[in-house]
Amino acid sequence: MGLRDDVAKVLIPEDALQARIVELAGEINAAYTDEDRPLLVCVLKGAFMFLADLTRHLEIRHEIDFMETSSYGAGTVSSGVVRILLDLERNIEGRHVLIVEDIIDTGRTLDYITRNLRTRNPASLRICTLLSKPARRVIDIPIDFVGFEIPDEFVVGYGLDYAEIYRNLPFIGVLEEEVYR
Ligand code: PRP
Repeated sequence: MGLRDDVAKVLIPEDALQARIVELAGEINAAYTDEDRPLLVCVLKGAFMFLADLTRHLEIRHEIDFMETSSYGAGTVSSGVVRILLDLERNIEGRHVLIVEDIIDTGRTLDYITRNLRTRNPASLRICTLLSKPARRVIDIPIDFVGFEIPDEFVVGYGLDYAEIYRNLPFIGVLEEEVYR
């Protein structure tokens, strides 16, 4: 049995993901100038694949850095407790910062990260997320660039995991319930 046998349905196929990422990159190219030299902050681990594809379609000069936070543990529901596991390498004071996330669910992670980064006085702070689940929002987060709004289903693939597995799938899928019961 392979990983794909655990997937009940494909929610967003690979070609639709890639086409939308090209559009998002176009929006980001238009929103910044070369002089802005934005710093893309990839929120690990989930956003690693999105960042890798997005950055290849950016034409503006930019830099990348990484942060790792954890909120879910091994379950499928956000615990609400956010921890910083890895912090940025760079000082962001006076920098144009674009946070790159895979998914915004309750909004707790991004609320924590944006409040934390604002204390470091960036010139601007914007958010780009591939996926958003508006039905589950607990804290309202203004999102500047959104790939897809999705229904309240537990999704994996394209960076998103269940118990650290399935991140490598090139599409966004919904797991068979028996996998996480
Ligand atoms: C996921 C996702 C977001 C967060 C969204 O990360 O990457 O960071 O949860 O949920 P929220 O809006 O309810 O806070 P997770 O903690 O699972 O870590 P991972 O990216 O390393 O898998």
